[in-house]
Amino acid sequence: MALDHFSRLHRQRIDDCLSAQLESLPAMAPRLRDAMSYGLLLGGKRVRPFLVYAVGEMLGVKSELLDGPAAAVECLHAYSLLQQDMPAMDNDDLRRGQPTVHKAFDEGTAILAGDALQTLAFSILADHPMPDSLMANRVRMLSTLARASGYLGMCGGQALDLEAEGHQVDLPSLERIHRHKTGALIRAAVRMGALSAGEAGRRALPALDRYAENIGLAFQVQDDILDVVGDTATLGKRQGADQQLGKSTYPALLGLEQARKKAHDLITDARRSLNELAAQSLDTTALEALANYIIQRDK
Ligand code: IPE
Ligand code: IPE
Ligand code: MG
Repeated sequence: MALDHFSRLHRQRIDDCLSAQLESLPAMAPRLRDAMSYGLLLGGKRVRPFLVYAVGEMLGVKSELLDGPAAAVECLHAYSLLQQDMPAMDNDDLRRGQPTVHKAFDEGTAILAGDALQTLAFSILADHPMPDSLMANRVRMLSTLARASGYLGMCGGQALDLEAEGHQVDLPSLERIHRHKTGALIRAAVRMGALSAGEAGRRALPALDRYAENIGLAFQVQDDILDVVGDTATLGKRQGADQQLGKSTYPALLGLEQARKKAHDLITDARRSLNELAAQSLDTTALEALANYIIQRDK
C-alpha cells in the first residue's frame, strides 16, 4: 500500500521518540510506568504522528522539530484508548492485539496510566527543543491540543457517544459525535504540523483544515465499517463491539453501502483540498497516501 514507504521511514522514528520519553522517566512508580509503556508502545498504526510529519515535512520543517508534536498527539491518543476501553465506558478486553491495559494491570493503574499519558503529552509539547522564533507557535500548539482533547473536542465527543448508546441518533447528531470524539484530535495533528512551519503553515492552514475535517470524519466512519466487516485478529480489537453496545454508527444508521459511499465522498473532498495545496507548489504525495489509506485500511 502507498502508505508503506512513508510509514517505514517514520514508524521507527516515532517509536524511538516514544520509547525515549518513557525511558527518561525515573523508576519511582515502576508499575505505572510499565502500564504507560504497555498502552503506548505495543502496536498502533501511528496515524496521528504520521499526519504531523507529513504536514510539517510538506512545508519544509525538519523531522526533529516535528518529533515533539508527533509524540504528544500519540500519547494523548493512547490515553484516550486505554480509558475508553475500561468497564465504565466500552468495556473492551482486547486492544492492539493485546489484553487492554486494565486487564493486563488493574483498573486503578489503568486510570492513572491514562492520566499520566495525557499530562506527558503536554510536557513533551512544552519542553521539546524549538528555536526561539517559534515560541509563540509552541503556545498555539499547546492550546490546539488542549482544546481538541477536552470538553470542546474528544472528551465532549466521547460523552455524546456514551449518551447515544442503546438508541439510534439522527445523522447530524452522529456526525457531531464522530467529528468530536475522533475528528478533533486528527485535526489537531494536522494543525500542529502546520504550526511547526510558522508563516508557510499559516498560509496552508485553511486547505489543511478542510483536509483534516474530511479525513477525520472518514477515519471514524471506516472504524464503524470495520466493526461490522473486519475480523478480530486483523483489527487487534473485538469485531462487533459497537453492535454489542448498541452504539450509533454510520453502518447502523445508513447501511453498509451508504456508509462506504460516505467515507469515499469525504476522501474525495479531502483530495480537493490537497489539489489547492499542490497548486501552491506543495508536494502532497504523503497526505494523499494517508487519505487513501484511511478508507482502504483493514485495521
Ligand atoms: C482507534 O484509533 C480509535 C478511534 C479513534 C477510531 P486508531 O485506529 O488510530 O487506533 P490505533 O492507534 O491504530 O490502535
Ligand atoms: C474511540 O472510539 C474514540 C476515542 C476517543 C477513544 P471507538 O470506541 O469507536 O473506537 P474503538 O473501536 O474502540 O477503537
Ligand atoms: Mg471503543
